[in-house]
Amino acid sequence: MQRLIIANWKMQLTVSQAVHVALMLRHSRLPRRSRLVLCPSATAIGAVSRVLHGSPIALGGQDLSPSLKGPYTGDVSARDLKAYGCQYVIVGHSDRRALGETDAQVNAKVKTALGARLTPVLCIGERWADRKAGRAVRVVQQQLRSALERVSPAQRRNVLVTYEPVWAISPGGPIAPAEAFRMARVIWRTLGGRSQPLIYGGSVVQRNAASFLDGVHFRGGLVGQASLRARSLVALL
Ligand code: 13P
Repeated sequence: MQRLIIANWKMQLTVSQAVHVALMLRHSRLPRRSRLVLCPSATAIGAVSRVLHGSPIALGGQDLSPSLKGPYTGDVSARDLKAYGCQYVIVGHSDRRALGETDAQVNAKVKTALGARLTPVLCIGERWADRKAGRAVRVVQQQLRSALERVSPAQRRNVLVTYEPVWAISPGGPIAPAEAFRMARVIWRTLGGRSQPLIYGGSVVQRNAASFLDGVHFRGGLVGQASLRARSLVALL
């Protein structure tokens, strides 16, 4: 099965650095067994989109507005992501949740993304305090249920549910693969079946990628730090 590697560049690269890394990747020999998705910051999407035009590397946004148009200063519209050729969009990343994004907003964004035919990379995951207090499962189930509220079963299959324990994001973590697999099974149980494609995120690097992306539980990885340089990303792929 083809593995999906989703590079979340967060706000780590300038536009020219993003273009540079995208160019290096475009001219690298990438293995066919993995599909690469680059998620640059909103300001770099246009430039990176031009670099990737005609290449098998896909493009994604890091966030989107729940609305397609309107007086929402600073927001990014799904229409513009589509216009730049994005096929994916990260939704509900813990960086956004830490800034106050609510479960209801995440749900609205998932629905807007699906309506615009963007694949939502839906991030869910507990914080360390939740895990320590024994509420990790409850938190993840709650985030999952509310993010997918009133999303039809057919539409759900288009959502890449991404288990990203907040405490395992570098410089923290990583979680033991067996623990991540346990949560994958919780997610499937909550959704009533194993058909949902799952992604893992949190300190994925070349060394541990194969153990997380076993193809049974997780068919892809959401990668931050290790995706910022072409060389480490190619090694990971
Ligand atoms: P790291 O791979 O740097 O831990 O980042 C994970 C992440 O937050 C991806 O969205």
